[in-house]
Amino acid sequence: MAKLILVVFALALSLASVPAFADGVPAPLQQAGLNLMPWPAHVQLHEGRLALTQQFDIAVTGHPGPRVHDAATRLLQHLQRRSGIAFSQHAVTASPGDKQAQLVINVRRPGVLKIGEDESYSLHIDSRQAVLTAEDGLGVLHGLQTFQQLLQSDPTGYYLPAIDIRDKPRFQWRGLMIDVARHFQPVDVIERNLRGMAAVKMNVLHLHLSDNQGFRIESKVFPELTEQGSDGQYYTQDQIKQIIQYADERGIIVVPEFDLPAHAVSFFVSHPELASAPGPYHLYTRFGGKNPAFDPSNPETYVFLGRFFKEMAGLFPAPYIHIGGDENPGTQWNNNPVIQAYMQPSITSNEALQTQFIQKLAAMITADGKQIIGWDEILQPGLEKSAIIQSWRGKDSLYQAAREGHRTILSNGYYIDLLYPTSDNYLNDPIPPGTHLKRSVRRNILGGEAEMWSELVRPGTIDSRIWPTTAAIAERLWSPQDVRDVAWMYKRLYLVNLQLEDLGLTQIRNQGALLRQLAGQHEIEPLQMLVDVISPVRGYQRMATGNYTTHSPLASIVDAATANPWAAIRFNEWVDRFVDHPDADTEQKIRLQLEGWIANDPALEALIDRSPDLHSVKPLAQSLVTLSKIGLQALDYLDRKQAAPRAWARGTTTDFLQARESAAETKLRMVDGIEQLVVMALKGERSSGSGVTRGEEKNGG
Ligand code: ACM
Repeated sequence: MAKLILVVFALALSLASVPAFADGVPAPLQQAGLNLMPWPAHVQLHEGRLALTQQFDIAVTGHPGPRVHDAATRLLQHLQRRSGIAFSQHAVTASPGDKQAQLVINVRRPGVLKIGEDESYSLHIDSRQAVLTAEDGLGVLHGLQTFQQLLQSDPTGYYLPAIDIRDKPRFQWRGLMIDVARHFQPVDVIERNLRGMAAVKMNVLHLHLSDNQGFRIESKVFPELTEQGSDGQYYTQDQIKQIIQYADERGIIVVPEFDLPAHAVSFFVSHPELASAPGPYHLYTRFGGKNPAFDPSNPETYVFLGRFFKEMAGLFPAPYIHIGGDENPGTQWNNNPVIQAYMQPSITSNEALQTQFIQKLAAMITADGKQIIGWDEILQPGLEKSAIIQSWRGKDSLYQAAREGHRTILSNGYYIDLLYPTSDNYLNDPIPPGTHLKRSVRRNILGGEAEMWSELVRPGTIDSRIWPTTAAIAERLWSPQDVRDVAWMYKRLYLVNLQLEDLGLTQIRNQGALLRQLAGQHEIEPLQMLVDVISPVRGYQRMATGNYTTHSPLASIVDAATANPWAAIRFNEWVDRFVDHPDADTEQKIRLQLEGWIANDPALEALIDRSPDLHSVKPLAQSLVTLSKIGLQALDYLDRKQAAPRAWARGTTTDFLQARESAAETKLRMVDGIEQLVVMALKGERSSGSGVTRGEEKNGG
């Protein structure tokens, strides 16, 4: 393991041998090999190191509360596993702390798990000792994660660099939503993702617990909800308590969502009398389609929901209940004469009717001691100011809600299920540079949430959509605004991805398992090379085919592909760099990669021909080899210092068009890089480029 880490580390460093300049972080710090994500608010690196030895120990002083000792013990175990060193200390207990310990934790008070709690910490490491200081236990948790990420190794052994860090989050709400309704995600999936969230300092897990495809939590008041509406896949109340406890130990709040008044078929399977049109209702196995809604004119609706939310308010300690409120088309309301009569004369639109419904819910939920959260559709005149608005359709509602006095959370731009490049999510800032907002309005913007809608994932693939992209979103929400260099982010993200695997997340190993399955053999290297340059088609293209149901196997090449095809990302970066600084070293890397893709092709195509599930990816393999040859020709022209003939470039047009086509619901992602080489060759000069990277261009758009 240690050797593997060293090799990977050396590889990653070699990828970044040419300086990149972040807006905010000085280049020498970027090149220091600190693999921190989120990047801390203030970092000062010093000469020297604290060597990790058998004598490594941790002591706690002050008033730590319940979370700190367990977290420190987890750090001990992690460092042992990573280094292979057996420490003399096995657990950090409540016994009085030894101020001479190698890591001393000073904490003033336990802290309260809530939004807006002090999460700051400072960390000092010199060659003798490390000292982690925090106001409360939540700050300690974050500081311990930073300490863990600081572990490095070289041929002399494992160590932590001498360093001073002062750190605190930019935004209070750093969330991940997991939709457990479309595809249920068992407790172990949630727990491993909570470990990942804690590693990148996120503090809210939002569970989307009901939708048209399933109702996923036991109600003891209305047991029929899961008996009839879950296909047997739901959390018992004991299981949800276990999840809440597990999250709490890691400083994470669990917010439940029950989507109303639409997206509510799973309620209506057992309670059709509460819907706005007669039943019977059955769980959807498809996605999209009609969106039945609760009958807001029926007093029984409120009796039922009042009892239901009272039960859920008692189960979830967080002060928030998310009531959804999105995508109510109003069709059932329009077609129901009783509802139309109910609206007369004062309720003049479906929006107003929905607002009245939400207000009634909010009154009940507030009486249960909770605040409501809803998707941005609930932002209508008359909504109480305590309601938190979650903006999914755009940033306008984020700012509008904040101006109107609501607290808000950004989700638009963080839909990780849509598999846009991680750089897009990363550069999506709730308050981008240059935004003019009053301080009072700014304060209402709590932060953001990565959204993992689960139509097209199963427990075996969900981690590969959440991670490592969510780590980049976590950095956007935690780190200073000016930490936004895309190439440097990717360099750290690659290594963070490996750290996450160490926590039991499955995005790397399950990709390998799926490729072995598809290849029908264990030698998957040729196929792995292809998967490393493709990613799924983006946005809703897969769902738009209408081919998918809740029972689809989700075990094709597109399910193995991810938003981060590392070889393509690296290749495009090399080309960007080569355009700006056309040096021999970068050219050599580009050449070797192109030759590698060409050399891989015979084995890849043979594997494809043997495997029925892989036939559809053949055009991708063919385009990869064709374009690689074109890339090498472009470099040859550049080496000969002659402009490439226009006829040659014109002759490649069909190949580029073909290469940009999707196949097997995936696309090649190194095409831009090769096209840039052709453009460069046409100019016939290794001219100096604009210096603008691809990621930055997108952000400006
Ligand atoms: C949503 O994506 N309908 C909140």
